[in-house]
Amino acid sequence: MFAARTIEASDKPAFYDELCSQLSGLLHGESDAIANAANTSALIFQTLPGLNWAGFYFLKEPGELVLGPFQGKPACVRIAVGRGVCGAAVARKEPLVVEDVYAFPGHIFCDGDSRSELVVPLIRDGAVLGVLDLDSPTTGRFDNDDRAGIERIGQIYMAASSSAL
Ligand code: SME
Repeated sequence: MFAARTIEASDKPAFYDELCSQLSGLLHGESDAIANAANTSALIFQTLPGLNWAGFYFLKEPGELVLGPFQGKPACVRIAVGRGVCGAAVARKEPLVVEDVYAFPGHIFCDGDSRSELVVPLIRDGAVLGVLDLDSPTTGRFDNDDRAGIERIGQIYMAASSSAL
């Protein structure tokens, strides 16, 4: 049984070092993309303070993201590329940190409690395969350290899940 350890870190880079180490252990030896997405979202949701949603959307068909494993309230199932924060991150092929979702044109409200959001695209061989999406009820919850840390989490997920995506 895997037990997530409480992370006592003095700064965010140290926090993400420990989180990445735990995730590598959690995914070790497993390549199923859905199982790994489920465990990755559970570990994120359990260890990162101040979240109300953490999970995956996958590009199942060109131009449309479809909801994957997540933690939090039930969410919108399909998001067109270019729409919302998730669709914008896919279209731009880059992470997006949104300090205030009310100030982001086209933001899609899945949970009315969300105030800030971080979306990291999952990229393999130059192609976006999905996104990892984190929501917080606190405005300005995510900064560049979070972006860099969650990008590393996405890379660990992608490396472990290579056979199934
Ligand atoms: N807010 C996202 C939609 C997904 S939910 O936050 C889970 C967006 O604007 O793309």
